[in-house]
Amino acid sequence: MKNPLHNELDLSSYWMPFTGNRAFKNEPRLMKSAQGLYYTTVDDRQIMDGMSGLWCCNAGHCHPHIVEAIRQAAGALDYSPAFQMGHPEIFRLAERLANMMPDGMDAVFFTNSGSESVDTALKIALGYHHARGEAQRTRLVGRQRGYHGSGFGGTSVGGIGNNRIAAGPMLPGVFHLPETYDLEHQAFSKGQPSWGAHLANDLSRIIASNHASTIAAVIVEPFAGSGGVLVPPVGYLERLREITEAHGILLIFDEVITAFGRLGWASASERLGVVPDIMCTAKGLTSGAVPMGAVVVQEKIREVFMKGPPTAIEFFHGYTYSGHPLAAAAAHAALDVYENESLFEHVRGLETSWEAGLHALADKPNVIDVRNFGLAGAVELRPRDGAPTERAMAVFREAFDRGLLVRATADIVALAPPLVISETEIDQMLGILGDVLDDID
Ligand SMILES: Cc1ncc(COP(=O)(O)O)c(C=O)c1O
Repeated sequence: MKNPLHNELDLSSYWMPFTGNRAFKNEPRLMKSAQGLYYTTVDDRQIMDGMSGLWCCNAGHCHPHIVEAIRQAAGALDYSPAFQMGHPEIFRLAERLANMMPDGMDAVFFTNSGSESVDTALKIALGYHHARGEAQRTRLVGRQRGYHGSGFGGTSVGGIGNNRIAAGPMLPGVFHLPETYDLEHQAFSKGQPSWGAHLANDLSRIIASNHASTIAAVIVEPFAGSGGVLVPPVGYLERLREITEAHGILLIFDEVITAFGRLGWASASERLGVVPDIMCTAKGLTSGAVPMGAVVVQEKIREVFMKGPPTAIEFFHGYTYSGHPLAAAAAHAALDVYENESLFEHVRGLETSWEAGLHALADKPNVIDVRNFGLAGAVELRPRDGAPTERAMAVFREAFDRGLLVRATADIVALAPPLVISETEIDQMLGILGDVLDDID
């Protein structure tokens, strides 16, 4: 479908992120507004948002409470320096986040994105060991198919080949655990697969071949979204926690996607009962309305930094826009909405029908796996002969033309709708996807 703006809008200057720029510019998809569960395109088509934008608009689009909070904040305090200065709302927000997160996770460092949260978390881990006199603990462990953003730190611990191929040597001393996904043993698992906890034992191999005393931290997504909705096997994260704890290695959960309700709780950590040392968040923190991230840290880790002369800076790290007033207002408002509308509980109530609806797609043509966790899911398709990724991209384009936004990664079609979605809307959404799967070969 040609866009009416296509001929009058010059699309050439904007270099789009993680996008086939040439293909997009031949067939642009341009949004002009959004409300609740729907985008409106520039040619006035309604698009149901099956992806919460990019895993972030958890409260639905343009929620009036968030919009109003942003409006007010923009006119009250445009900016307050982040270093050696503050404003009350950012302290209140830090306290609020500490209260939402597991016991002991009481220190909050603000960033502007998931990528910055990850790089910050890695530097906190290195700084912690340094401050304790174990500066030799510099090695980091990530995981195959992990996504931790686009900074050099996150790209280093990330495990997606295409993201790393042209990024040079990146951080030295990084190792990767094997991915947790295995089609043969896990296909069509509902929720957490029962097979795969043993994959965490690979950490013992990495420890044995490097020595525990050289390893600073392990970073994983509790459930990997961008890599293709890879759900942690039962017992896997618990095992990682046991091994890291036994060796003085910090465990970092990258909860950029999973925090703030995606799994029906404030964090995956809370849902799964596995508490990391450091947690990276972003996205749902402001429901995507203003960029913001937060790294939530065990108080006992922060304490280690709090020494030296009383006037000394304890951690030489931060961003001009750490704790930006506009983002703080958006975050407070988003957290209000999650609370006032009981959205996390709502997700827990939806999970059974979400799972059933998704798995009903198992018999559609070319489907080789369906997986779900919380209010997220994926349908994996058999790749076209000699043309991997094209089938899922065809589904993505066709779904968009029929009024549904999904996300295609490799041959995986991912879904993660705003938490405000109803059962009827879930049926509608999965109905559109089912019809598209019937029609795309
Ligand atoms: C787990 C995880 N970490 C980090 C990021 C990077 O976040 P951002 O794009 O806000 O930098 C993402 C983005 O999808 C993510 O899913």
